[in-house]
Amino acid sequence: MMNKERLPQIIQGGMGVGISSWQLARAVSMNGELGVVSGTAVALTLARRLMDGDIDGQISKALEDFPFQDIADRIRKKYTKSLIENQGKDKYKQVPMPTIDLGQDLLELIVVANYCEVHMAKMGHDGLVGINFLEKLQTPTLPSIYGAMLADVDYVLMGAGIPIRIPQILTDLAKNLDVTLPIKVAEDEGYEPTLSHFSPTSFADGHPLPEVKRPKFLAIVSSATLATHLFRSSFGSPDGFVVETAIAGGHNAPPRGKMILSDLGEPVYGDRDIIDIKGIASIGLPFWLAGGYGTEEQYLYAKSNGAEGVQVGTAFALCDESGMEKSLKQRIIQAIKKGLGRVRTDPLASPTGFPFKVVELEGTNGIIETSLERKRICDLGYLREAYRKENGNIGYRCPSEPEADYVAKGGKIEDTVGRLCLCNGLVSTMGLAQHRKNGDQELPIVTAGDDLKYILRYLSPGQLSYKAIDVLRILLGQAFSKFTTQ
Ligand SMILES: Cc1cc2nc3c(=O)[nH]c(=O)nc-3n(C[C@H](O)[C@H](O)[C@H](O)COP(=O)(O)O)c2cc1C
Repeated sequence: MMNKERLPQIIQGGMGVGISSWQLARAVSMNGELGVVSGTAVALTLARRLMDGDIDGQISKALEDFPFQDIADRIRKKYTKSLIENQGKDKYKQVPMPTIDLGQDLLELIVVANYCEVHMAKMGHDGLVGINFLEKLQTPTLPSIYGAMLADVDYVLMGAGIPIRIPQILTDLAKNLDVTLPIKVAEDEGYEPTLSHFSPTSFADGHPLPEVKRPKFLAIVSSATLATHLFRSSFGSPDGFVVETAIAGGHNAPPRGKMILSDLGEPVYGDRDIIDIKGIASIGLPFWLAGGYGTEEQYLYAKSNGAEGVQVGTAFALCDESGMEKSLKQRIIQAIKKGLGRVRTDPLASPTGFPFKVVELEGTNGIIETSLERKRICDLGYLREAYRKENGNIGYRCPSEPEADYVAKGGKIEDTVGRLCLCNGLVSTMGLAQHRKNGDQELPIVTAGDDLKYILRYLSPGQLSYKAIDVLRILLGQAFSKFTTQ
């Protein structure tokens, strides 16, 4: 049996969109480590799964346990089997895009989706389950956290920014208090700070409020300076840190100082980017090392430097239980076998402006020439930034949207160059691609860490697939039987 007091040795990293599926998190949790679901855009992906008819019936089961059944009913009715016919092909109908004022429909969908994802990951065992959010993606954050807390989430993990307010928000939500989060708005000089609000009481709309526990909070950081800043914050300290290097999959912290690019156009990291692990250890909170820690040697190295263990993403992203579309996983494994599938650290791809790791795989938008053929459209909107319009209202723009639209909203044309639509690309990677009017389907974008080239170490000879437990076995080595339930 999992000992809930024991800190995990391995954190299976939160990987959006949908790669850290509930199935993956559940498999890891059942083996005694911390399984993490991704909370990024789960409202959209849950709606699309319902539109597809909830093929394995698991969302419907989770919805039956949601504490507010009138809300669960509305979600069922609105989305179940609601695909739109489009020139002989099924098309997903539009789900509202996130904005500061989410609107009741999207608010309910966000709470329910985060609840379901955690609830499904917790099904049938008593292991620990966490949820991962990106700080940069602010507008859905408050209801997302509350939804996860309704499902009794054990850990919240957040990176890609400075998640300074989260400890206080978790404490307040655990008392069912109203919470606010300041939202970054561009060109906002002279205006009052813009806040996103969430009220558990209004959400429950007269129903009794369930008791919720305060999950632990792990901040994902890339420097001891940021860790110390968060530790000393008046909003409360995180309960620990995930310390991530720039070779990790997904978004990376930019190099310190002026961005210098290599001959291949990738950011060059230097001595100033080396993480001061001793400085992190001296804070005295538990921490886990991440980014290229996919072997037992690396795990032992982390332990010998005072870490509790490691957070690993790339190795889990390709295993059977991950949410990546199955044939895509096989194409990647085949490509690696042939020495292909290079991982590019792309300084421009992400609309957030953070470097983003992209796998150069044929047939995906990871190939620059292929991505240039995509007709720009912004219809999911998770990475849009809020900006103040001349008339004082707030608008939303994304440098990956059609260039003319972005410029008309005050964006700079040079900021649109090289940007990819991560929203549509990442959702396609999990097999929920939109069909466009012309019959085309949105192509995937795959992200992975530099360690992708070593993925074959988790495969048994002659096999083309592996399970989450195979990763845990390799990572923990001798310690595997000590820590797992198997
Ligand atoms: C496919 C993929 C998606 C990721 N998405 C996120 C994310 O949404 N949020 C996040 O904090 N980290 C994300 N990461 C980083 C992982 O959580 C983890 O920290 C990282 O993968 C560890 O390094 P590794 O890739 O070398 O194992 C992602 C990583 C991968 C491989």
